[in-house]
Amino acid sequence: MEEIRRESVVKRYASYAELSHEDVALLKEAKEAVHNSYAPYSQFYVGCALLLQNGVVIKGSNQENMAYPSGLCAERVAIFHAGATYPDVPVMAMAITVKAADFEVKEPIMSCGACLQSMSEYELKFNQPIRIILQGETGDVWIAEGLRTFMPFMFWLDELKK
Ligand code: THU
Repeated sequence: MEEIRRESVVKRYASYAELSHEDVALLKEAKEAVHNSYAPYSQFYVGCALLLQNGVVIKGSNQENMAYPSGLCAERVAIFHAGATYPDVPVMAMAITVKAADFEVKEPIMSCGACLQSMSEYELKFNQPIRIILQGETGDVWIAEGLRTFMPFMFWLDELKK
């Protein structure tokens, strides 16, 4: 037996002053997107802003439904919108932030597995990692270079790559 280890690195920033203007601007757009969240059931509001290579920013927010599984997370709303509207333009970065009705979210919240998997498809499509910028409602900002950071053993089969 041997252990298989894959290292993941996330950079943590305690202040906006340490971030690039571009990352701060994208995070600000994600915070604006939170306002368009429709989350009457969970009252957990997620906002996402996605930067395309052509400079266009696409926003997404979670959209819930009375039939719970019919709703969709903010990240997939944004990335599918990007794929449907700008199919040939690579995705450079995604900023994701949250707000809860009843408590302050002081830590970055990780995207769910289905979102990570969906987002990773666009890394495959454009053959380049997507920079992920996370922040709770307040607190530290986390930045990761690519989805593999969060899914080191992600589903992958070279034979399926077309
Ligand atoms: N949610 C997201 O928007 N993104 C995620 O990655 C995880 C969860 C939403 C779905 C639901 O509307 C609410 O957060 C609570 O789960």
